[in-house]
Amino acid sequence: MDKLIVRGGRALDGSVRISGAKNAVLPIMAAALLTDQPLTVRGVPALSDVRTLGAVLSELGVEVGPVEDGTLRLESAGEIGHEAGWDFVRKMRGSVCVLGPLLARLGQARVSLPGGCVFGVRPIDVHLKGFEALGARVRIDHGYIVAEAPSSGLRGSEVFLGTAFGSSVTGTMNVMMAATLARGTTVIQGAACEPEVIDLGRCLQAMGAQIDGLGSPRLEISGVERLGGAEHTVLPDRIEAGTYLVAGAITGGRVRVTGCRPGDLSSLVDRLKQAGFAIERGDDWLEVQPKHFGFRPSPTDCTTQPFPGLPTDLQAQWMALMCRATGVSLITERIYPDRYMHLPELVRMGARIRRQEALAVVEGTERLSGAHVTASDLRASAALVLAALVADGETQVHRVYHIDRGYERIEERLVALGADIERAEDD
Ligand code: EPZ
Repeated sequence: MDKLIVRGGRALDGSVRISGAKNAVLPIMAAALLTDQPLTVRGVPALSDVRTLGAVLSELGVEVGPVEDGTLRLESAGEIGHEAGWDFVRKMRGSVCVLGPLLARLGQARVSLPGGCVFGVRPIDVHLKGFEALGARVRIDHGYIVAEAPSSGLRGSEVFLGTAFGSSVTGTMNVMMAATLARGTTVIQGAACEPEVIDLGRCLQAMGAQIDGLGSPRLEISGVERLGGAEHTVLPDRIEAGTYLVAGAITGGRVRVTGCRPGDLSSLVDRLKQAGFAIERGDDWLEVQPKHFGFRPSPTDCTTQPFPGLPTDLQAQWMALMCRATGVSLITERIYPDRYMHLPELVRMGARIRRQEALAVVEGTERLSGAHVTASDLRASAALVLAALVADGETQVHRVYHIDRGYERIEERLVALGADIERAEDD
């Protein structure tokens, strides 16, 4: 197990090229199950989650090539199994995305119920509701989801997939994938509009799927007999891009994120401007302008929302920035009300934060101090690294395997931006 050792004190300066989006590449890999033709995916990030899903898919009988220069070739021409076991799914919830493709391709699927995670229960009721709307029988059996299509196959219908917390990203993805091979037309109301859902939809269209309404809360999918192979380049990771922009802001430095889609980050750019930062933009880059090391942002009030609102996946990073604001900030987590595992770790570094349910009240302080902190979920871990960049002294972030799930070589990229950070064996 590794740790990251960070010595704060330097304003970052430089540019970083953004990798392909983790939350698009995972469902796109699962989409390979929908066809017996080869699917070639470009812009694949070197992440442990990609390797884990690759292992799940090869267990199922998919030929999963090595990732060479960001290119991954998948082919499900042979015998495909229908069961994804507990061992894989517990490692990564994203593997629940194989459910829809397996059900559509084989007429059956047996996938372990994904565990919760550190930020609370993560139900999949709307995934199952969507499959039932398509005619599947779904039951829970000894910790597994068992889904079976009628002998005549799935059939299209209309279904509302909204939840009490807004739309469901992977719920929309799973049901959209299943609907591509269902007889007739499926209408998904309350669909997620995240860029990753659009990217998956575009890959499915390249494979021959008939999908209208991508990016809107209403998707219309006309089922086809079969899908073919395709080549698809994954969109850039807006959460990785946002994380590095905040890294520049928190250190008072200048960071340009290149190869990104500025339009996917409008909510973060809006917050950064409100906090007192100047942001430049180009066609495929964004740059936070330098202040000076020790600059303290203005306090802000923000609420996480489905796209295009402030992403829940940037909430922890935003909290780290607000820990040094010149006043009191409010953060309301509307997607995962318990997503505050980073909060006690930031407090260990001298942050002054109080939580009431989904609301966190952050009283900005002059300084943070380095400490031993423990990573928990992927984005909380990134937030601790950001805080460490601006803290006095040395911080050791333990259990960084959480970070490696979603950030490609984070310490190398931060070193290239001028940070004093290194990876070491955790004792
Ligand atoms: C996706 O998770 C992302 N993961 C998450 O990113 C991201 O935080 C989340 O979307 C929200 O944007 C992947 O794409 C692999 P949801 P997902 O279904 O699809 C509730 C990261 O850090 N809900 O959109 O699992 C749910 O509890 C990860 O990269 C139901 O009630 O999230 C939550 O409150 C973390 N019933 C809200 O909806 C359901 O059946 C949104 O969840 C499904 C979800």
